[in-house]
Amino acid sequence: MVKSKLLHILEAQQFDRSWIEKTLFPEAEKLRKQFFRGKVKPILKGKSVCLLFYEPSTRTRLSFQNAALLLGANVAATENAKEFSSAVKGESLSDTIKVVHSLGYSAIVIRSDVEGGAREAASVSKIPILNAGDAGGQHPTQALLDLFTLYKHFGKLDGLTISFVGDLSHSRSTNSLSYLLSKFKRNKIIFVSPKKFKARIDLKDYLIGKGVQIEEVTKISDAIEKSDMVYLTRPQKERFKKGETFGSGFKDYMIDLKMLEKLPKKSIVMDPLPRVGELPEEVDIDKRVVIFDQVQNGLFVRMALLKLVLT
Ligand code: NCD
Repeated sequence: MVKSKLLHILEAQQFDRSWIEKTLFPEAEKLRKQFFRGKVKPILKGKSVCLLFYEPSTRTRLSFQNAALLLGANVAATENAKEFSSAVKGESLSDTIKVVHSLGYSAIVIRSDVEGGAREAASVSKIPILNAGDAGGQHPTQALLDLFTLYKHFGKLDGLTISFVGDLSHSRSTNSLSYLLSKFKRNKIIFVSPKKFKARIDLKDYLIGKGVQIEEVTKISDAIEKSDMVYLTRPQKERFKKGETFGSGFKDYMIDLKMLEKLPKKSIVMDPLPRVGELPEEVDIDKRVVIFDQVQNGLFVRMALLKLVLT
């Protein structure tokens, strides 16, 4: 039985500011310290976590896996569940979820290839469902680790100017992080994308409704000097329509050493990764590029989330 009030983790809108600041972040910070002292307690001993991934993943899958293992849980993973699970035989998602539950698993981390897939799973699940990305929809755990990274860097989450850059029409990471930023005060979001790859209208309506100041531009050079954080994304070609190309390429949607000169000294660059050209490796020497801090924070935030849904 799940004692925690938090059953499922489905979308960024579900969290409120006080839960993020007073529950999640202190827990992630505590686990971070335990990790570096080599003293993580196996509080999930006897639990088991099932990773159901219908789309490719490196970081999210491995970090959830290690988060669960470090806390003492068992882990089973179906990588490429679209091809290697009974989905290929025509099994419905709801049957798969009921099977995993019947087999005694304590929680399911799902990366669905359908928008709304995690919500659909949750609608039939008696055990916690954690959304690890649902097609072009949301990626709430990525957004929470991004927010934790921002918080650790700036010591605050209000009054920031954040630029989201690239293929914003398909980016579940920027969708979820935008929703989270709207929970805080006086944040401004600059969406930087080619006209055909703009952020979703439903997202912009939500942000405006919450009083977030938003701006849309088509070139990174129009945003970088005003940004506290620039969040780059790759073109999600797997979600393009047939024959579609990413405008005129990366030129206006990338940060190389030359563009980095325009970034204010105290600002930072983030990317959920994988990167495919929007952030050449040459920039990694600059401390303002915090992409591997994001990856590592993902471990602590996911440990905290597993703890909060399973104990
Ligand atoms: C992102 C994802 O899968 O949504 N990566 C991640 O989870 N770290 C971004 C992407 O695939 O471009």
